[in-house]
Amino acid sequence: MADEQTFIAIKPDGVQRGLISPIISRFEQKGYKLVGIKLAQPTKTLLEEHYADLTAKPFFPGLLKYMLSGPVCAMVWEGKDVVKTGRVLLGATNPLAAGPGTIRGDFAIDVGRNVCHGSDSVESAKKEIGLWFKKDELVSYTPTIFKWIY
Ligand code: RTP
Repeated sequence: MADEQTFIAIKPDGVQRGLISPIISRFEQKGYKLVGIKLAQPTKTLLEEHYADLTAKPFFPGLLKYMLSGPVCAMVWEGKDVVKTGRVLLGATNPLAAGPGTIRGDFAIDVGRNVCHGSDSVESAKKEIGLWFKKDELVSYTPTIFKWIY
């Protein structure tokens, strides 16, 4: 069976604040493998699909405006339990509730500017990867170094 994959996005505030490399480092240092990455300016249509379950929320118009405000760094990370552990690395959705040592706990204050996104289930990850990436934009490789590096 192929390793689990998750979709991680660095939102426009994270890109513009120069947080791409520290966020990537957290995933690399944990031991996960980057199999897809690109800077993309999402369209309203893509975001409406991505956040389909949130369209009725009062914060949805503001969320759309935020996510349309600049390029997003879209990534696919691979490895054991990466969906669940990826969310742990990101920290709570509201940065004020996110613990120190997590990405949102260390780099963000406002829930409306929380620098990153991570899939919340294996099913969502499949849907989101399919929305943001074409199949040929993802690579498949086995590192030949240590067995415990995914
Ligand atoms: P994400 O999808 O970005 O990883 O966030 P999440 O699953 O942890 O949280 P979700 O409830 O799906 O919310 C998606 C994004 O909407 C913004 N938000 N604003 N009360 C508010 O103003 C509010 N609540 C949520 C955040 O940017 C959140 O990440």
